[in-house]
Amino acid sequence: MAMNVYLETYGCQMNAYDSELVRSILQSGGYNLIPSSEGADVVLMNTCAIRENAHRKVYSRLDQFRPIKKRMKKEGRPFIVGVLGCMAQNLKEDLFAHPVVNLIVGPDNYRALPSLIHEAVRNGGPGNRQMEAYLSEYETYDDIAPTRLSGVNAWVAVMRGCDNFCTFCVVPYTRGRERSRSLSGVVAEVEALAEAGYPQVTLLGQNVNSYHDGDCSFADLMLAVADIPGIKRVRFTSPHPKDFPQPLLEVIAGHPHICKHIHLPLQSGSDRILDMMARTYTQDEYLGLVDKIRSCIPDVALSTDVIVGFPTETEQDFQQTLRVMVAVGFGSAYTFKYSERKGTIASKKYPDDVPAEVKTDRMMRLVEVQHQMALSKNQGRIGKRFSVLIDGDAKRPPGNPMGHQIGHQIGHQIGKTDGHTTVVFPKTDHAPGEFVWVEVTGANQSTLHGMAVDV
Ligand code: 5AD
Ligand code: SF4
Repeated sequence: MAMNVYLETYGCQMNAYDSELVRSILQSGGYNLIPSSEGADVVLMNTCAIRENAHRKVYSRLDQFRPIKKRMKKEGRPFIVGVLGCMAQNLKEDLFAHPVVNLIVGPDNYRALPSLIHEAVRNGGPGNRQMEAYLSEYETYDDIAPTRLSGVNAWVAVMRGCDNFCTFCVVPYTRGRERSRSLSGVVAEVEALAEAGYPQVTLLGQNVNSYHDGDCSFADLMLAVADIPGIKRVRFTSPHPKDFPQPLLEVIAGHPHICKHIHLPLQSGSDRILDMMARTYTQDEYLGLVDKIRSCIPDVALSTDVIVGFPTETEQDFQQTLRVMVAVGFGSAYTFKYSERKGTIASKKYPDDVPAEVKTDRMMRLVEVQHQMALSKNQGRIGKRFSVLIDGDAKRPPGNPMGHQIGHQIGHQIGKTDGHTTVVFPKTDHAPGEFVWVEVTGANQSTLHGMAVDV
């Protein structure tokens, strides 16, 4: 009988995509994927290593499997727990120190999963530990068709790895060197997605805009994908500000199917900190790029990532970050407290010397400024009409009694504008994956509310 595997995913969209690859690989290997850990013979966790709290989450989840493991052992049944992804690559055999872990598999070794699980089960007893965590310079899983769950957006990894070595970031160590898939492989995958009815694809890469296949650039790839009949929206994430040549901006500006949304990770507004982070741009250069983007794509939505409390960050440095946030007016921002990662350049060169309470205070002030900016932007949209791609029914987030205040009401649908803003509106006859026009009647800093209208 086929073994039951339950797969859990943590972290970024790349991990969500990788889990779809893993599902496909396991199904081809004769395993049965199930939707919960109930009745599972194998539990796999696809993990993230970007910040310490990502690690903590996984460790506490592993602890939850201790009693199940004990019970299964008593009953003489195998119960395999595997750690996949960035934490596996980062910590390798150190993870075996946790008593439930049998299997450690890095992001470039998923093809080996069926045989590694087989070996772990066959060996049984205390010898059932299997590990494969070698970084590859060429693995792109170009030939594997992921098993997807969502029917509206499809993630498509177009390149893997990162060569930037920003000093705070563990990704170059957990994901290895940059490598791109073939343009023809990506186009074939997206053609199949269009055929299967997906209206939107999001091209993914740790450094997506450094994609290249021979002479073909990221701009060429975007154009090729956006021209595929049936594909209505193309998004991409996550780019680096260093790779936005004019032709790419022109492609984004000029193609009706490419969303006018650019995620532009800032990280810090201080030149001194940006230099220590090895981000390769200054505040001026970043703001210059924002101007260039806005003059080429006037209605562009911008979002960003910011880290507070990088080693030695002073109040003045932080003020520079606030200055950029105000000057740009991002539609949304992901904000993080610096978390020292073992093995990174920053961890070797700079002690993590900003006190936790200072990090928390800066983060709160940053979030407050960002909320004000986003709120006034969204309120300015009241009375306007937007084309919305429907994701599905709006659900009140579980355990969130304030759900109604953020607009996730029962009897409503939820979707996204071209600029990636969430819109909630009373239910229509349209199904997920279809477009409706919505007139905005209310707004908070993260969500627009409105009514579907005929145009
Ligand atoms: N500490 C805090 N935030 C980090 N990020 C990456 N590494 C760290 C770290 N060590 C953030 C960056 C990046 C996003 C994906 O995660 O802002 O853009
Ligand atoms: Fe990390 Fe920098 Fe690479 Fe992004 S670009 S994954 S922040 S090293």
